Amino acid sequence: MSCFMPLCLSIWAVLMVPGRTSALNDNIEVMVMLPRNNTYLFSYTRVFPAIEYAKKALREADAYAGLRFNVRFENSACGMDALYALVDRQKDERPDLVLGPVCEYAASSVTRVASHWNIPVISAGALATGFNSKTPEYSHLTRIAPTYLKMAETFQAIFGHFGWRTAYLIYDDDKDERNCYFTMEGVFTVLSEYHISTDFAVLNSNEERVDPDGIITSVYGSEVVIMCSKADIVRDLMLAAHRRKLTSDSHIFFNIELFNSSSYGDGSWRRRDKYDDEARAAYSFLNTVTLLRSTKPEFEDFSIEMKKSLQQSNIPICEDCSAVNMFMEGFHDALLLYAIALREVKSKGLTKKNGLEITHSMWNRTFEGIAGQVSLDANGDRNGDFSVVRMTDPESGKHETVMNYFGTNGSFQILPGFKREWFSLRTIPPPKPLDPSSGGLGVSAVTGIIVGGILGTALLLAFYFFRKNYRITIERRTLREECDIGKHRQLREDSIRSNFSAA
Ligand SMILES: *[C@@H]1O[C@H](CO)[C@@H](O)[C@H](O)[C@H]1NC(C)=O
Ligand SMILES: *[C@@H]1O[C@H](CO)[C@@H](O)[C@H](O)[C@H]1NC(C)=O
Ligand SMILES: *[C@@H]1O[C@H](CO)[C@@H](O)[C@H](O)[C@H]1NC(C)=O
Ligand SMILES: *[C@@H]1O[C@H](CO)[C@@H](O)[C@H](O)[C@H]1NC(C)=O
Repeated sequence: MSCFMPLCLSIWAVLMVPGRTSALNDNIEVMVMLPRNNTYLFSYTRVFPAIEYAKKALREADAYAGLRFNVRFENSACGMDALYALVDRQKDERPDLVLGPVCEYAASSVTRVASHWNIPVISAGALATGFNSKTPEYSHLTRIAPTYLKMAETFQAIFGHFGWRTAYLIYDDDKDERNCYFTMEGVFTVLSEYHISTDFAVLNSNEERVDPDGIITSVYGSEVVIMCSKADIVRDLMLAAHRRKLTSDSHIFFNIELFNSSSYGDGSWRRRDKYDDEARAAYSFLNTVTLLRSTKPEFEDFSIEMKKSLQQSNIPICEDCSAVNMFMEGFHDALLLYAIALREVKSKGLTKKNGLEITHSMWNRTFEGIAGQVSLDANGDRNGDFSVVRMTDPESGKHETVMNYFGTNGSFQILPGFKREWFSLRTIPPPKPLDPSSGGLGVSAVTGIIVGGILGTALLLAFYFFRKNYRITIERRTLREECDIGKHRQLREDSIRSNFSAA
């Protein structure tokens, strides 16, 4: 017996050694940085089950079974908390991988430190154009959800297809997370490269009463109106446009809503007020650009699991829209992508500490995600597929996808529900009526300086913006903005300027 045991052990060792060198055995410390507050579609409660699902899938796959992911969560909110959580880690307890943050400003500070520490960052957010220049500050950032710039390619394709030349951009800038600002920045960047002339109106629905009719009077002269705002504001704008008879012949209306599938589509015009009928008629001219959602058989199981977890966390699930959003899919796929890259890097004799090599191994790669193929470009940004959704039956208010844009091959697909007349301009957009209350140079110059600073080096954008079409909002905003500026705005400006100095 006593000599039998060592014999067993040596046989076992001989059998196991070859296996051990080829299998992937490692402990991976993962730091997940997401907000705890469920008002965010990417709150930890929503995304966490997706990460767990991916961990389970990897455990069950032979090639990755030896990987143990120790996931630690940090409540990142959308401010600086994520950065502090990261820098509070001692050198020997730094994570091997950071997932998140989603919010632009949080992502920007975290990614800089993580890049400096050679830690890969994968986020389903950080969608702003400023992150496109990866070197040197964002060298370790991989973006697993399609960025705003990729979304804007959809507009380039549509404008090219229909031969439109002018656009008017209306967006809601909360001066905080600034999602619509960054969304429009992408659209502006792509359309200007493509020599589409653009004008703007900006509003801030958090801080001021919005004057939809005032804004709509400035869209005269532009063929295409592109909006990004809260669902209620979009409805007010569409009502104003419809009342001025701008919807049918002379303008094409687009709304951008990438993530929140409850805010577009069937019934999105309905508020159970006296304007519902009018709103339904107005919405029959509204096109919504959103992410193309694909599914495959494996997705069903994922979707059921996610819904179960959401229910357990008391997160309401809407009935006729998908409860699984892009952030859940994205962070799920992020873990798979990391595992694939780690395996490749280790096969070259490197380790999990070779952050930059792992990051580069994730880039320029196509793999099978939970909802379909995920393809990352050579810059580490996911190629996006987008849909244009539109009301196809004005009686019932039913919505359908009428066009798709595939970022991987740049192709544009017209679906059976499509009608040419919806995208035909029958009359030339009338010129803008003269506005007697025009603000004069003083006002636009002052605001130009303030916001020029906020926009940092996206100065061109600010320039167009304030010179031309800022009258309506400027007048009401200037006073209050000037009072604010001494307090928090100054800090904000500095942080933005440096964040996007590469934009
Ligand atoms: C979550 O965010 C919303 C909106 O920003 C806020 O009203 C609410 O108080 C927050 N909830 C918690 C628990 O912090
Ligand atoms: C999504 O849209 C719906 C409908 O407009 C809105 O009630 C909800 O607050 C939105 N959710 C988020 C997270 O923005
Ligand atoms: C991306 O990958 C393809 C083949 O998979 C290769 O031909 C190409 O050179 C790569 N591009 C870059 C920039 O690495
Ligand atoms: C582009 O890619 C999409 C999806 O990957 C595919 O369905 C479509 O046929 C492709 N189009 C062309 C022209 O290759």
